[in-house]
Amino acid sequence: MSFEVINKISKNYSKYATIFFENEIEFCDYMSSETRELITAIIKKQEFTGKIGESLSASYLDNGILVDIIFIGAGKKEKFNKKEYRINIFNSLKNLNGEILISSKEILLADANILSEVTSHINYDFDKYKDKKKNKFLNLTLFSEDLSDISEIKILNESIILAKNLVNEQAELMTPKKLSEIALEYGEKSGFQVEILDEAQALKLGMHAFLAVGRASINKPFVIIMRYFGDKENKYVHGLVGKGLTYDTGGLSLKPSDSMLDMKDDMGGSATVIGTMVALAQNKIKKNVVAVVAACENSISSKSYRPGDIVSSMNGKYIEIINTDAEGRLTLADAITYITRIEKVSEIIDTATLTGGIVVALGHTATGVFSNNKEMVKKLETSSENWEENFWHLPIYDDYRKMIKSEIASVKNSAGRWASAPSAAAFLESFIENDIPWMHLDIAGTAFLSEDGTYHKKGATGVAIQTLYTYIKN
Ligand code: BES
Ligand code: MN
Ligand code: ZN
Repeated sequence: MSFEVINKISKNYSKYATIFFENEIEFCDYMSSETRELITAIIKKQEFTGKIGESLSASYLDNGILVDIIFIGAGKKEKFNKKEYRINIFNSLKNLNGEILISSKEILLADANILSEVTSHINYDFDKYKDKKKNKFLNLTLFSEDLSDISEIKILNESIILAKNLVNEQAELMTPKKLSEIALEYGEKSGFQVEILDEAQALKLGMHAFLAVGRASINKPFVIIMRYFGDKENKYVHGLVGKGLTYDTGGLSLKPSDSMLDMKDDMGGSATVIGTMVALAQNKIKKNVVAVVAACENSISSKSYRPGDIVSSMNGKYIEIINTDAEGRLTLADAITYITRIEKVSEIIDTATLTGGIVVALGHTATGVFSNNKEMVKKLETSSENWEENFWHLPIYDDYRKMIKSEIASVKNSAGRWASAPSAAAFLESFIENDIPWMHLDIAGTAFLSEDGTYHKKGATGVAIQTLYTYIKN
């Protein structure tokens, strides 16, 4: 919300912010010479030099009006690093609100984009159910001689907000049906085609693994298919698959209450995929992408699938159910087969809040990456460089593949506690056909925070949208 760029100042502001590189204290021309002198004196007296992390607030009288100003140090210009800069600006601005005119002598497009993203972050609050709604917003106006085009980042910001809202909403409302309706609505708004399959249609396709997970809930499962063809001449089609568990009780292998509490976030992968589609389509990126979400709720009733059951899957393999809480991979297996065989995509990236193990390994700091294709991982890493998103490549060793072998079926759905993230990846890999390039992003730790983090507040983060957007765009 509320960030704009102007190149003429047509009104008075009572709050200003200025970004300085270290030892380069220079001012924009819009300030009167008296103001500049005054500010220079304050800066000298307070020994502000513009080091990274340094900030200084001051107030002064300008024509009888009290003006607040904040100086933000951006560090050495030669050492400029987008990631460090973003966090620094975020920390300097996060407790401010009201209308602020911000400037720096050398405005880079990076400034405008980062400021826009940071403002959007600072202003976000999922306050739908709160008594006190957020009423203080940061309205940042960037003064820049050349007007940077920020339309692309604004669309990205909005798609992240959409993803956060989808994840933060309670599971009672954010059902598979609701998720399908939202996909339809945004498809229409953004310019991509959406097709919804109901339980009967999924059954016809043989998606038994997916349907087994969803069958106990009164909230019926749906398959959401989103198609965006921005480059019809090109044959290459990116495939995205998002885990869409609108709630995960664990099923009959019931989760303890503490672990269940945040399980409305188990459709985080689908929110990322929907957000990415919206951003690509609204920015009219010339690429082809098909995304699939097999959305359902892992609940309990007399209709529940059970530990010890053997379910079939769309690709014909039989899966021995060891633990009904290892449900995500069952839904993903069928979604992967669907996107491979029916949509015939050229590569597949799945995003899923798949394992507690990845949270143990990487915490909330990085998404775990597993792949059968090193080039894809490299591309992903490059695409993430300019964003505040971390991805860490982990292995799929033969040992992990052995762990999911079953004595009575093609595979089993759980290998127990150890190496749960890589063995889950090995499970998914066993559903990849013809060595199609594939990458699995385990976002269980990064999609949702139960406490405030360094760059994200408590709650949903909209993780991986920026990186996947960049990955597909380039
Ligand atoms: N949705 C969970 C994984 C999860 C954990 C997401 C923490 C977000 C935060 C997943 O379905 C699950 O329950 N995984 C089990 C698998 C196990 C039974 C093999 C896990 O990781 O404990
Ligand atoms: Mn589970
Ligand atoms: Zn789950």
